[in-house]
Amino acid sequence: MRTGRFHTWRALRVPAHRASSATLAGAYPFLTAPACDTGVLIGVDALTGGPFCFDPWALYAAGVLTNPNVLLAGVIGQGKSALAKSIAIRSIAVGRRVYVPGDPKGEWAPVAEAVGGVVVRLGPGMSTRLNPLDAGDETPAITHGRRVRLLASLAETTLGRDLRAVEHGALDAALTAAETSASPTIPDVIAALITPDDDAARADGSTATERASDGRDLAHGLRRLVRGDLAGMFDGTSTQTLDTSAPMVVLDLSRLGSNEDALALAMTCAQTWLEAALATPDGVLRWVIYDEAWRLLRSLPLVRRLQSQWKLSRAHGIANLLILHRLSDLDAVGAHGSEARAIAAGLLADCSTRVTYRQESDQLTATAAALGLTEPERDLLTALPRGTGLWKMPGCSHIAHHLLHPDELAVFDTDAAMRDPSTSVHSNPDPDPDRKEVAS
Ligand SMILES: Nc1ncnc2c1ncn2[C@@H]1O[C@H](COP(=O)(O)OP(=O)(O)O)[C@@H](O)[C@H]1O
Ligand SMILES: [Mg+2]
Repeated sequence: MRTGRFHTWRALRVPAHRASSATLAGAYPFLTAPACDTGVLIGVDALTGGPFCFDPWALYAAGVLTNPNVLLAGVIGQGKSALAKSIAIRSIAVGRRVYVPGDPKGEWAPVAEAVGGVVVRLGPGMSTRLNPLDAGDETPAITHGRRVRLLASLAETTLGRDLRAVEHGALDAALTAAETSASPTIPDVIAALITPDDDAARADGSTATERASDGRDLAHGLRRLVRGDLAGMFDGTSTQTLDTSAPMVVLDLSRLGSNEDALALAMTCAQTWLEAALATPDGVLRWVIYDEAWRLLRSLPLVRRLQSQWKLSRAHGIANLLILHRLSDLDAVGAHGSEARAIAAGLLADCSTRVTYRQESDQLTATAAALGLTEPERDLLTALPRGTGLWKMPGCSHIAHHLLHPDELAVFDTDAAMRDPSTSVHSNPDPDPDRKEVAS
C-alpha cells in the first residue's frame, strides 16, 4: 500500500562513500563471484581477501568447468612456472600425479626430486634411451595404431611435409614386419622400409621394389633419429621403464638446447611413451604440464598430437596445463586459415580455465577478444603484480595472488642465476652448494 505509515517520498541523504575494491568486496560480497574454495590452496582472492583454491576435477564435476584443462599466459618472470609447480606439488599431497612430458629449460627436475618423483634426462651423449615404440597395456591393434601415428609424426617433422598415401602404406607394412620382434625399434622399421617384404607388398597389390621406392624418403627422415643429432636417444630398447606409480615424472630436455626440430622430435617420442602409460586405467587423476609450450607449438605434427591427447584427457582423468607467454603464441603456429591455426584455436577452446598473468600492452586487444574480457579486466592485465593472475572460468572471474611458501621458493627459484650473489638478500633456508657455484 502506497499510503502506509512508513512510506516516504523523501530521498535518502546518504553521503557518497569511496573505498578500495577490497573493502567494498567485503561490504558488498554479492558483487564478487562466489568463493572458489574447493581444491588445493593457490593463495588469496585479491577482491575478497579470502582463500583461493582450485581443483579442475571438482569444478568439472560441479558443472562449473566444461573440461579440466587450463591455459596459463603471461610475460616472462611473472611466476607462471612457480604457479604450475605449486599446483603440482600441492596436488601430489592430495594423491594426484603429475607428468611434465618435456621440460626445455631443465627447471622441473628439482621439483620432481623434492617430491620423490622420477627425472628422465634425455640429450645427446647421455646414457638414457627411450624406445617410443614400447608397448603399453593396450591391445596389439591399439599399440600398432599408436606406433604408426608416432612414426608418421616423426617423419613429417624431419621431412617438413605431410606424408603421401603410398608412404603411409609403406610405413604400415614396414612396422608390421618390424613387429615380428617382441619389442621393435626405429632401426628395425628403417631396415624394413629399405628391404620390404615381397609377399606383404604383393598382398597389397604392389611389389617390393615399388615399396622400397615409396619408403625411401621415410627411411631417410627416420634415420635422423639413429644417426643424426638425436642418435642414441630413441633408437634402441628403453633403458628406463616408466614408473606410473611415481608421484611425478619429468622429462628433462634441457640438453637439447635451442634445437627446435630436435625438441619437437624428442617431445613427440616422449609424448607417445607417456601416452601408453597414461592410458592405464588406474583411477588416478593426473596433471600433464606443458611449460614453455610456445616452443612446442612451432611443430604441426606435435600440435596434432597435443590435440589428440587432449581429446582423450577426460576419459583418462587428465587435466592439461598449457603455459604460454601470450595468447598470440597460438596464432603463431601457422598462417591464417591453416590447419595448425584451427587446431590451436581448438586447444584454447578446450581450456575451460584461462589464467592470465601480466601482458604487454600490445597484447591487450587480442587477449581481451580471445578470452572475452570485460573492459576493467582488460585494463588490469598490464598492471598485475608478480604472482597475481586473472582466472577466467565460464561464468566467473577471480583475481588471485599465488602464495609461495619459502620452502617452495627455495626449490622453484629460477631467478638465482640473475641475482648478484654479493648483493643477494634472498634467504635460502638450505642453500644448495651447486647452485651457489653456478651463481658465482
Ligand atoms: N607468487 C610468487 N611470490 C613471490 N615470488 C614469486 C612468485 N612467483 C614467482 N616468484 C619469483 O619469480 C621468479 C620467476 O618466476 P617463474 O615462475 O620462473 O616465472 P615465469 O615462469 O613466468 O617466467 C621465481 O623464481 C620466484 O623467485
Ligand atoms: Mg617459466
